[in-house]
Amino acid sequence: MDASVGRPVRRSVVVTGATGGIGAATALRLAGAGFDVIGTARSQEKADALVAAAVASGRSLRTVVLEVADPVSCVEAMGQIASMTGGGVWAVVNNAGVPQAGSIEDVSDEQARHLLEVNLLGAMRICRLALPGMRLRGEGRIVNVSSGLGRVPWPLGGWYSASKHALSALTHCLRVEMAHAGVRVSLVEPGAFATAMLDRAIDDLTQADRGGAEGYDRSRALFGAVNARVPGPEPVARTIEKALTSPRPRARYTVGLDARLLVPLHTVSPLWLSDLIKHKITGLPHTSPVRAGAAKETA
Ligand SMILES: NC(=O)c1ccc[n+]([C@@H]2O[C@H](COP(=O)([O-])OP(=O)(O)OC[C@H]3O[C@@H](n4cnc5c(N)ncnc54)[C@H](OP(=O)(O)O)[C@@H]3O)[C@@H](O)[C@H]2O)c1
Repeated sequence: MDASVGRPVRRSVVVTGATGGIGAATALRLAGAGFDVIGTARSQEKADALVAAAVASGRSLRTVVLEVADPVSCVEAMGQIASMTGGGVWAVVNNAGVPQAGSIEDVSDEQARHLLEVNLLGAMRICRLALPGMRLRGEGRIVNVSSGLGRVPWPLGGWYSASKHALSALTHCLRVEMAHAGVRVSLVEPGAFATAMLDRAIDDLTQADRGGAEGYDRSRALFGAVNARVPGPEPVARTIEKALTSPRPRARYTVGLDARLLVPLHTVSPLWLSDLIKHKITGLPHTSPVRAGAAKETA
């Protein structure tokens, strides 16, 4: 309670990448639950659209413009948020992310660097900027949105899996490092949910496909079929709310039937079996036709 005015203090939460998918669902849900939400957008136009969506659903939230891949933008936005909230946010939801699908052979250094800037360095930078305020107040929450694919490396999505695997490692370290300061840190690992992310991944595959690697057509069809069948992002938003409202938030929340099945299956499977399953699902050939033919001839 705010003793001076006798009413509950609204806790401030920044949600990065709040202009669509999981981020928008989370920002709107948290606003509906009474949080003082600051959603980040990459342009003022998108920020205005988010505010309009909130107003249309009878909620209110505030926005700032933030490009997480740009350190200057991160410092400016977090400074602005500190002024808006009178000293900094109670919680951070690092949700902004990009897919960057394509075979390892086809993804350039530049593309990989951008992916890591957004999915990994950007998220950690936002944590670093929010932590001094949390430390000062002796409490805070950080929720980092990883992916089931952070624990199940996925062919033609290797860099994405790597970025989320690294995000997961840093999140688990941060939780231990900040426990003494009253900052609770959770990782959320969604499976597939229908957002623009899978469409972006399909576009990435089309751009990366130079005809040299196998599996692109099948992966495009797979992502399209998955996107058409899976639910919208609301279950992930619900889970993020749980991580923020639970008195004892869990270290890790895995969301969605696919992730809850695939992650443990991958953990217990020998590598040869998980490789085989990935070959079957992606259509990536197990042996080269040339080598298989040569083997037959010599047999
Ligand atoms: N959907 C899934 O199946 C799924 C599964 C596992 C994990 N995830 C993770 O969930 C998070 C949200 O994804 P989503 O599915 O909701 O995707 P989405 O609909 O594409 O939303 C991504 C959000 O991140 C923002 N963003 C992208 N690059 C940014 C940058 N450089 N700086 C600031 N903001 C940036 C986007 O802004 P713009 O609108 O301006 O592009 C958008 O608001 C991501 O971290 C993703 O890896 C998603």
